[in-house]
Amino acid sequence: MTATRKLAAGNWKMNGTAASLVEIEKLLETHPEPGCEMLICPPATLIAQTAWRCRDKHLKIGGQDCHWESAGAHTGDISAAMLADAGASYVILGHSERRSDHGETDIEVAVKTRAAWGAGLAAVVCVGETERQRDLGTTLVVVGGQLDTSLPEGCTAGNLVVAYEPVWAIGTGRTPTLAEIAEVHDFIRAALERRFGAEGAGVRILYGGSVKPSNAAEIFAVSNVDGALVGGASLKAADFGAIVDALSAA
Ligand code: 13P
Repeated sequence: MTATRKLAAGNWKMNGTAASLVEIEKLLETHPEPGCEMLICPPATLIAQTAWRCRDKHLKIGGQDCHWESAGAHTGDISAAMLADAGASYVILGHSERRSDHGETDIEVAVKTRAAWGAGLAAVVCVGETERQRDLGTTLVVVGGQLDTSLPEGCTAGNLVVAYEPVWAIGTGRTPTLAEIAEVHDFIRAALERRFGAEGAGVRILYGGSVKPSNAAEIFAVSNVDGALVGGASLKAADFGAIVDALSAA
C-alpha cells in the first residue's frame, strides 16, 4: 500500500460505544478489498478493540488527538505511543473542534505532529477557516498561516496527511463550491511543494465538512482532492461505504 493511495477517513468524534462495533463489522464485510485506503478514528475507548478486530484487514484505525509527551503527569491525556500501542496507525491533529474546545494552537499541533511521528503514527493535520474569515476574504491567508506553523520540518508523503475542513461546513450540511474547494486545495498543494519538495507533492490532501454519499463523487473529482475526512456520515457503514466507493471510482 503506497502513501499516495487515496484515503477515506472517518472521524467518529465523541460518538460510539461497544454497540457501534457492528458498524466496523459491516464495513469489513461490505469492503474487504476497498479501492482506496480506509481509516476510522473512533473514540479512544474503542481504539484497541477496533484495531485488534482490523489487524489483518484493509481498515486502519486512528486516534483523534494525542499529547506531545510520550508519558507523564497529564491526567486525561493520551500519548502517541499509547495510541500506537493500542493498534492505531494514524492520529488526527488540530481538528477545529480541538482548537475551539481546548484552545489548541498551531504550535501545539506542530509539537504533537512530531510526537506522532516519534511513535510511528502518520498525522492528519487539519486546517480551515471560520465563516467570518471566509467572508472577510482571508481564507488563503488563514490556511497558509496554519500550514506554516502547524507543520514541522520533516513532512513526507508517508507521515503527513492534510485535511482542509472549513469550520462553517462541519456538521452544517453546507459545503464550499467545487471551485472554492479547488482553490484551497491547489493552494495547499503549492505550499506543501514549496516547503517539502517532491514529498509535498505526494502528501494527501483531504476535504472535510458535510461530505455525504450524495456529494462525494463531485468533490472527489476536484483537483488535488485525495480523499475525505468524514464526520457524521462515517458513523454508519452504509454511508461511509458509499463514500469509499465514490473515492475508489474517482
Ligand atoms: P461532518 O462530516 O459531520 O461535517 O464533520 C466533518 C469533520 O469535522 C471531520 O473531521
